Amino acid sequence: MVLLKAVSFFYLGVCALALPKIPLSKRKDILASSKRDGVFKNINALKTQMEKTKSKLQTGLLAFERNTGKIHPAAQGAQGTFAATSNNPPLEKVSVSKRATAAEPLTDFEEDLWFGTITVGTPPQTFTVDIDTGSSDTFLPAVGCDSTCDGHTLYDPSASSSAVNTTDPFFLQFGAGNATGFIFTDTVEIAGITARAQSVGASNHYSVEFEEVNFPPDGLVGMAFPALSVFGDNPLFTTLVTQGTVPPVFGVKLADTGSELFLGGVDTALFTGAFRNVSLIEEDFYALNLQALAVNNQVVATANGVVAIVDTGTTLLIGDPEGVEIVYEAIPGAKDASEVIGPGFFTVPCNRIPTVGIELGNQLFNVAPAIFNLGVLEGNDCVGGLVSMEGVPFWVLGDIFLRNFYTVFDQGNARVGFATPR
Ligand SMILES: *[C@@H]1O[C@H](CO)[C@@H](O)[C@H](O)[C@H]1NC(C)=O
Ligand SMILES: *[C@@H]1O[C@H](CO)[C@@H](O)[C@H](O)[C@H]1NC(C)=O
Ligand SMILES: *[C@@H]1O[C@H](CO)[C@@H](O)[C@H](O)[C@H]1NC(C)=O
Repeated sequence: MVLLKAVSFFYLGVCALALPKIPLSKRKDILASSKRDGVFKNINALKTQMEKTKSKLQTGLLAFERNTGKIHPAAQGAQGTFAATSNNPPLEKVSVSKRATAAEPLTDFEEDLWFGTITVGTPPQTFTVDIDTGSSDTFLPAVGCDSTCDGHTLYDPSASSSAVNTTDPFFLQFGAGNATGFIFTDTVEIAGITARAQSVGASNHYSVEFEEVNFPPDGLVGMAFPALSVFGDNPLFTTLVTQGTVPPVFGVKLADTGSELFLGGVDTALFTGAFRNVSLIEEDFYALNLQALAVNNQVVATANGVVAIVDTGTTLLIGDPEGVEIVYEAIPGAKDASEVIGPGFFTVPCNRIPTVGIELGNQLFNVAPAIFNLGVLEGNDCVGGLVSMEGVPFWVLGDIFLRNFYTVFDQGNARVGFATPR
């Protein structure tokens, strides 16, 4: 068995000149565009994204309960607590007159997501998909979908000799958005590697959030563990692993350019030095124990029982109101921007953007100031990439965090590791 695995992996390397990797792209990058001229924009997109994250995580928690018969620790209201290491005064509020840039009509509805290409069926049909480590199902718009799928490439099971209609209906809730249809099994190829009899949701209805104008890729591939699957089936990556085609590990680089998903290992061309690894405390989401929060390399709060999940499908660094407030209170000149931008947003002085850090596995992981800064709100107030959200039972390490590292998702060793990208 071990030999077989080694042989098939070697075979991949030889046969496919091509390494088992796909580039990830964006049609429009909320973070990059908000910084192009240095001014904070895309507020609506960010808020939509936050809502989507919240609902996606809740969907995952419910699926966990159905699949395992257990209530997820994070769903039991045990959100963990923080103890501030010093007593800082409450934050001043950003003055409401600064509404000029921030509160313009919210028309930008772009999502910040990373998409790559897969093929489904025999012969292969090609689709673009959002690569999401915060969920576990694969779905596509399908032939017969109503006008809500217009503009997307439609999966046609009747044109695939390997497609099987399980006749099981599905309903997936992602933020305000949802997708419905029937679950098929079919051959799916990603990065030159093939999964047979993979569950694929063939959607006959997309809510407006998944319409082409709002969601550029055709569908989505969830890269988390089986326990989160709403379909109750193996995620694509699990199928690849159980069918012996790849070792249970993948690497991700997220950046303005050169973003990539690498299956079965890591792309050594994309990082330097060693990984700093952190053990998973749950194998459903990629869930880590958050130990402390730091500002400019000084611990400002220690955490007790706080869970952080690693999610390529979330744009910002999201935390609970208690912890997030402690961080901003420790930053001189930081302000509460909730009345101007919306609940959970804060500003920091543009001329002194702090280095915010998260301690995981007894190691500090810093977010570079240039990545943390979402752009100028007005004057010397720049919006911070750490936001708080009520009702999210985790801290969510989204793009703002992940862009600082090359990340390895090592399912086989139940850990996630972070290296310096290059
Ligand atoms: C799949 O099966 C369901 C339930 O029998 C049926 O309603 C649906 O039309 C089928 N889908 C396709 C594309 O054949
Ligand atoms: C699906 O999403 C739409 C919003 O686009 C909403 O109107 C509808 O009620 C949702 N369906 C369910 C069952 O939640
Ligand atoms: C960290 O994880 C990576 C990827 O699984 C592995 O290659 C490396 O050896 C690990 N480092 C340590 C110190 O365990």
